[in-house]
Amino acid sequence: MFSFSDAARPARRTTASTCSSLLTLHQLAESLGNAVDAKDHWTCAHSEEVAVISQILALCMGCPPHLAEIIHLAGHLHDIGKIGIPDAILQKPGPLTREEFAVIKQHPVIGEAIVKPVKILNGQSGVARMIRHHHERYDGAGYPDHLAGNAIPVGARILAVADSLSAMLQNRPYKKAMTFEHAEAEILAQSGTMYDPRVVEAFRKGRDHIHSWITGMRGEMQAAG
Ligand SMILES: [Fe+2]
Ligand SMILES: [Fe+2]
Repeated sequence: MFSFSDAARPARRTTASTCSSLLTLHQLAESLGNAVDAKDHWTCAHSEEVAVISQILALCMGCPPHLAEIIHLAGHLHDIGKIGIPDAILQKPGPLTREEFAVIKQHPVIGEAIVKPVKILNGQSGVARMIRHHHERYDGAGYPDHLAGNAIPVGARILAVADSLSAMLQNRPYKKAMTFEHAEAEILAQSGTMYDPRVVEAFRKGRDHIHSWITGMRGEMQAAG
């Protein structure tokens, strides 16, 4: 079973489940996440980062390891709906128009629809719902359904923090990468508004593990060119 120390290991090989169906599913999720990241060159390894950071956060929150592993899977798949968004919008270097942003906001709904035929993702595991709700905000100002507080699936509340952290640490067409310390301050400042305070507390606890994993991951990628 995947453990906290596995999650913190600075390597791209992340999960070794003893459950073969979960292992196969994880491989498929990782592969699909890589497909999304390959489509958008700005989001290099973003899905992998969200998967690992989410799992560390889940374990720091006290989620059972099996649930943390499911949330890891959802991390790989969280942006799968971007496959349905035109490249001209996804990779636009300047600010988006209101209409373009409305198109982008469809990606969690498209993502849910993509994974729904896979029963194990659309059933009790809740992966499809985590994907749909990964852009909800704790204060209800997110999308697509404006859910608030505990109405947002816990996995989606965890993905929201991991997604923001990874995005803030990467260059994007519209902004430069932040330092880890700057991104950390942003997350702490948005506790209770954008993010679930319990997830932010888990981030405080797992901060050093997350930092060392990301540093190792980035170093590995640079070495690979
Ligand atoms: Fe993984
Ligand atoms: Fe997203």
